[in-house]
Amino acid sequence: MTGVNDVKNDLALQASTRTLAHYEERAAAFWEGTRDHDVSQNLDALLSAFPDAEPGRPLRILDFGCGPGRDLAELRRRGHQPTGLDGCESFVHMARAHAGVTVLHQDFHALDLLPGSFDGVFANASLFHVPTALLPGVLAHLFAALVPGGALFCSNPRARDGGAPQEGFVGERYASHLDLESWRALFLAAGFMEIRHYYRPEGLPRAEQPWLAMLWRRPPS
Ligand SMILES: C[S@@+](CC[C@H](N)C(=O)[O-])C[C@H]1O[C@@H](n2cnc3c(N)ncnc32)[C@H](O)[C@@H]1O
Repeated sequence: MTGVNDVKNDLALQASTRTLAHYEERAAAFWEGTRDHDVSQNLDALLSAFPDAEPGRPLRILDFGCGPGRDLAELRRRGHQPTGLDGCESFVHMARAHAGVTVLHQDFHALDLLPGSFDGVFANASLFHVPTALLPGVLAHLFAALVPGGALFCSNPRARDGGAPQEGFVGERYASHLDLESWRALFLAAGFMEIRHYYRPEGLPRAEQPWLAMLWRRPPS
């Protein structure tokens, strides 16, 4: 008999294999197309969760789904101690070369992270590749990897206004397009406290803001 865990494992394998193969085939083009993207609003949002950060004590930040390393390099330039994580082997090599920091080659569905080892998690355009049924497990890992009081930022393409959340393969990439309420339910169930959210790009009417950015905190003990 096929159990729930078999179905979940099969979904994880399919989502990872096809999505990562897509990025692997386009790794160089992805870097050229995204290396100049300005995501400073998102980096600033994560760092704003640490108003008492002491100068000279770099924050340990996990860039979850770091891609070829643009944001790792910027976090390092800002004096922090970022660590990358990605399942696409070419991105792991590129990120190490571009940012000169530790980059873990791990699948979102087979995470091996030390508990309490990060002050912050930066998940820019990455969590939406996780099927909704598997998000509770991934969020539980990230919660455990944060120190109490640590913060998680994520930005994901969202469900259309007035439309239901949708998920499945878009071409070869698995994508979950959720709305704010669906994300809230998942993060609150994982134990996070909401800090704030906003829509991107900045300054446009909501209908032209396809990205939902959210900032969450692991409660301080
Ligand atoms: C849209 S890209 C975002 C990259 C980077 N954060 C940025 O903002 O440019 C999504 C990233 O998630 C990674 N990814 C997708 N599915 C993954 C999985 N199952 N395990 C590990 N990494 C995965 C991809 O390799 C890719 O680097």
